[in-house]
Amino acid sequence: MKIKSICCIGAGYVGGPTMSVIAQKNPNIKVTVVDLNEQRIADWNNVDLNKLPIYEPKLDEVVAEARGRNLFFSTNVDEAIAEAEMIFISVNTPTKTYGAGKGMAADLKYVELCARQIARIATSDKIVVEKSTLPVKTAEAIQSILDNTGNGVNFQILSNPEFLAEGTAMRDLAIPDRVLIGGNQTEGGKLAIQALVDVYASWVPKENILTTNLWSSELSKLTANAFLAQRISSINSLSALCEATGANISEVSKAIGMDSRIGPKFLQSSVGFGGSCFQKDILNLVYISRSLGLIEVADYWHQVILMNNYQRDRFVKNMIKTLYNTVSGKNIALLGWAFKKDTNDTRESAAIYVADMLIDEQAIIKVYDPKVTRSQMMSDLNYLNTRPEEENTKYLHNETSPYSALNGAHAVAILTEWDEFTTYDWQRIYDQMQKPAFIFDGRNVLNQQQLEAIGFVYKGIGS
Ligand code: UDX
Ligand code: UDX
Repeated sequence: MKIKSICCIGAGYVGGPTMSVIAQKNPNIKVTVVDLNEQRIADWNNVDLNKLPIYEPKLDEVVAEARGRNLFFSTNVDEAIAEAEMIFISVNTPTKTYGAGKGMAADLKYVELCARQIARIATSDKIVVEKSTLPVKTAEAIQSILDNTGNGVNFQILSNPEFLAEGTAMRDLAIPDRVLIGGNQTEGGKLAIQALVDVYASWVPKENILTTNLWSSELSKLTANAFLAQRISSINSLSALCEATGANISEVSKAIGMDSRIGPKFLQSSVGFGGSCFQKDILNLVYISRSLGLIEVADYWHQVILMNNYQRDRFVKNMIKTLYNTVSGKNIALLGWAFKKDTNDTRESAAIYVADMLIDEQAIIKVYDPKVTRSQMMSDLNYLNTRPEEENTKYLHNETSPYSALNGAHAVAILTEWDEFTTYDWQRIYDQMQKPAFIFDGRNVLNQQQLEAIGFVYKGIGS
């Protein structure tokens, strides 16, 4: 069966870029991305490509090519469901903030709503594809809702988790390491798997498309993220050891990564990982393991999160100690708010936690990030619910240039690895700062020797 019409529910960081690439590479398939959020859809339809709701290098080019041809963004969810042969579910699955599994389990209410809506609308057979990261066995729940509330049509469920990383999404989608498709090992399931394989085969080599059963696919996504996060927590744990012994984390990381069995990627020590997936997925894995009575497995993975929290705390404590044990009333500049470079996404960004801890100490924070708005920063901080919102407004200031953020500052913390930070006129910044001028490089991206030659006191992570 050749698919001619696709619908994707959820026009977010995953749904938007993924569907743009599917549409670009399959001009004969009509791809409609729908979302409840009207503003988001309006932004996706904006003629000014600089105003797309998410920032991702090269996304604008792909949208320019496919939008209006076979790529459409709409709020009419019912119509798109009715028309599509294949429906991707790409809505958010945040960590639960209430009830059983609070703070750990994934909140599946949006996924369930999607399933109920699909069941209600569909009057022809559909292939339903889980794109959101979901706990293993979710497909069973979706299947049950579809079969029990549907109009008697046939539903096939597939799991097709996304492995794109933000900031490099377009590249990751264009040349993926692998595409993973899980489905039922029945006659109908195999046909559905093949239909989705054909969509990807328009541009992905066959040998990079891996098909598995549903549960392997669901679990692989969760655990792939856990493995990646574990590498960061491992190297971050060593950064503390380096600081205590005089070893240098960059040298240690290089030495470890040159072992071809280990490899060099994801060994960059930092102020801690952020993003929408790592913490959420590991908590989910911990919760599932615990629910299954696998306490040792749960504790093992939980430690990855604890190490990440420790790294953020350690970074801030180190700053405060270095600034003579008080930052009250001092101006501290933060460069970067996004959870990594080349994205405007701030979910779980280390910057939020660093700012929060510094505000606890009554420091005045001036932030500059090339892509994040002040309202986003305020809502991130307010979401933590640490103090009244007026207090946050009082202490957190957003600057439109790095030079104004740093004017009169006692210290600067680098929290995102934006390339432009290395191109600044650091001599000019030094001249404008209070002395001694401290740099806390939470990403180890600046040139220590050069900065020390200017007169800065430089503290990287793990040296
Ligand atoms: C989401 C999940 O969080 C992640 O687990 C998964 O791997 C991929 O999908 P992301 O695309 O980054 O990640 O989320 P987000 O940018 O929040 O986009 C979700 C979109 O779904 C939002 O635009 C939201 O408005 C929309 N949505 C949510 C619906 O259209 N309907 C709903 O019922 C719920
Ligand atoms: C991740 C996975 O990489 C991707 O495969 C999955 O689909 C979604 O989750 P993403 O969260 O977009 O992608 O970004 P990623 O590049 O993995 O970075 C996550 C965090 O780890 C960032 O805060 C990043 O700065 C940090 N990081 C990464 C480090 O601190 N050190 C490293 O060596 C690598």
